[in-house]
Amino acid sequence: MLSHLLHLQGIESVVLESRSQEYIEQRVRAGVLEEGTADLMIESGVGARLQREGLIHHGIELRFGGAGHRIDFADLTGGKSITVYAQHEVIKDLVAARAAAGGKIFFEAEAVSVHDLDTQPKIRFQHGGATETLDCDFIAGCDGFHGICRNAIPPEVLRIHERVYPFAWLGILAKVKPASDELIYTYHDRGFSLLSMRSPEISRLYLQCDPDENIAEWSDDRIWTELRTRMATRDGWMLADGPILQKGITPMRSFVAEPMRHGKMFLLGDAAHIVPPTGAKGLNLAVADVRVLTRSLLDFYRHGATSGLDHYSDTCLRRVWKVQRFSWWMTSMLHRFPNEDSFQHQLHLAELDYVTSSRAQATALAENYVGLPFDEPYS
Ligand code: DHB
Repeated sequence: MLSHLLHLQGIESVVLESRSQEYIEQRVRAGVLEEGTADLMIESGVGARLQREGLIHHGIELRFGGAGHRIDFADLTGGKSITVYAQHEVIKDLVAARAAAGGKIFFEAEAVSVHDLDTQPKIRFQHGGATETLDCDFIAGCDGFHGICRNAIPPEVLRIHERVYPFAWLGILAKVKPASDELIYTYHDRGFSLLSMRSPEISRLYLQCDPDENIAEWSDDRIWTELRTRMATRDGWMLADGPILQKGITPMRSFVAEPMRHGKMFLLGDAAHIVPPTGAKGLNLAVADVRVLTRSLLDFYRHGATSGLDHYSDTCLRRVWKVQRFSWWMTSMLHRFPNEDSFQHQLHLAELDYVTSSRAQATALAENYVGLPFDEPYS
């Protein structure tokens, strides 16, 4: 997205992607776009398929105590919505746009090290069996949690804030019509579960499990039984099952590294921050970083102004911490913690009762879910 937006402003870039094109275009990940993320795709000319195939949702359901409660985004946020559109579809659209514009993307190009971050940055990378060097004005470290860029910041400068949760998500993709038109987040004695979707024929479901859960012990039948138990309502709602196409385990972590800039290198997305998946903020937060860096680089190349670049980290971190708070709150509210006593259990239920009965608290959820506003345009 950064490469695409910069190109539209006449700024060229080279993308080094460690995986193959097939891998990144197939790998199943999250699938909820904030309104601002979907708008950015549409405004920047990569939203045609999203507009055709994306599913616009105006609310979600919170389910607990055997009953569902709708959070009406449209009503609470002045008409805002989210779009269900898989992350790998976003990637396909962006790769296609860069390719059509003659953009340079090297696939299976593994960055090995970064150098001279204060002067003339260089990236050493391996591609096709050879080690090569890329000289650049700036490095955008969009290389994920396990990438090399964050660790190139000297340890005496880098500060880490972290929380690891004592549970994980078991996620499935299933060939079955989604049992609901909107996402359902469920809190149950046996743990959290989530019903989501990818299309009118494909469901995406998750259930809370142990972090060291062995996926081999989860037969399709066991997964459906567990989901059905957690999502059951007192009025007899039934989750339809179907063939499971894919399953996997997602660990849960909150993580922030600061500063998000060192010299002429900038960290974006998972390289700088991880959110637990509840609320689907990871991709959206990465795109928010992209907006800030695009704007800062434009100011630099157009006007020689460095203030945007100088404030990049602080600007991004304000949003990062608000989104961390929201993702932590959704996660804490909706999951069973090991050794939870009756006091904690009752607090979960009271929190859910409050958010589904107070307009003020429901608005707080809704405005975060659809995406907090941006202070500045991206270009
Ligand atoms: C999805 C993932 C999430 O983390 C979430 O909160 C909602 C939906 C999804 O993959 O569809």
